[in-house]
Amino acid sequence: MAIKYGRPLEAQTRISPVPATASAEAECRLDLAIRPRRNRKADWTRRLLRENVLTVDDLIWPLFVADDTRSPIASMPGVERLSIDEAVRAAERAAKLAIPCLALFPYTDPSLRDHDGSEALNPENLVCRAVRAIKKAVPEIGILCDVALDPYTSHGHDGLLRDGVIANDETVAVLTKQALVEAEAGADIIAPSDMMDGRVAAIRKALDAAGLINTPILSYAAKFASGFYGPFREAADSTPQFGDRRSYQMDGANLREAMREIEADIEEGADMIMVKPAMPYLDVIAAASQRFDLPLAAYQVSGEYAMIEAAARNNWIDRERVMMESLVSIRRAGASIILTYYAKEAAKLLSS
Ligand code: PBG
Repeated sequence: MAIKYGRPLEAQTRISPVPATASAEAECRLDLAIRPRRNRKADWTRRLLRENVLTVDDLIWPLFVADDTRSPIASMPGVERLSIDEAVRAAERAAKLAIPCLALFPYTDPSLRDHDGSEALNPENLVCRAVRAIKKAVPEIGILCDVALDPYTSHGHDGLLRDGVIANDETVAVLTKQALVEAEAGADIIAPSDMMDGRVAAIRKALDAAGLINTPILSYAAKFASGFYGPFREAADSTPQFGDRRSYQMDGANLREAMREIEADIEEGADMIMVKPAMPYLDVIAAASQRFDLPLAAYQVSGEYAMIEAAARNNWIDRERVMMESLVSIRRAGASIILTYYAKEAAKLLSS
């Protein structure tokens, strides 16, 4: 499917209002062996020679669910927290647009959060109820669930806090149970986003022991400690109450370490791997796609979305064009799966 950028293609190719005269062009003729513009001269050549194509099959649509009705997220204009019923309707629309998969993120009521994030293990928690409701109404759509404690802990960290530090191995034991609770509710993809060491192996073992041998793990393998998650933390109200996530999420300066993290998760049994965020880490996506053969996902995170929306709302950029350009850039870098808040809109554009 051709990518359209919201403006007629001819308008984009006409650069000067004053056409060069044919004779002046002939007089100036350069003796060029290579004229790459030949290949770009018309819409049909550009379509024919396009190297990377975005399709709806590449998209995962993240949804925020809450126990209330629809509520806006100030830093993510156009994205809302949805009740379970509203999420079911969104899933129906997504299925009609042929979006293959949703990712569900809970906004947990503060009264249900505690020091150890125990609500994560409640089979009746918001995410589990949402999974069951969506699977019942729209069985053909895939559902991805995050494994991490940040929506459930009173301190907002992804892991268990013991004497002020995140306790890795004890956290893994809890995450393993959380993954089981989600998979048993019907989650189709288990996606650990916590960045604890050893969690993929532990989750795989537990899923297998429970007979859930066909539930795949999409590991947030190279997840960077990023300022681009800011709007998500507003959406899920999951900003850490103190400190930051740098002792578990990766340092944004490190590419080699990202390869090591991904390699470890593959050895531990991940079925798919992820780089996150996407646009500021396109080099990491490119390196991972060259080095590893597993399906590679990239998460165009809340801050990437917010930046595009903010500039577009000021009429500083052409929103549709930048949205599609950003998604194609992630494809070009080598990701075959893109988690994006634009999934629904991109799907509509791609099918129009
Ligand atoms: C939870 C999680 C986060 C995101 C996805 N899963 C937040 C975080 O790590 O702070 C961010 C997604 C986004 O910014 O869109 N661990």
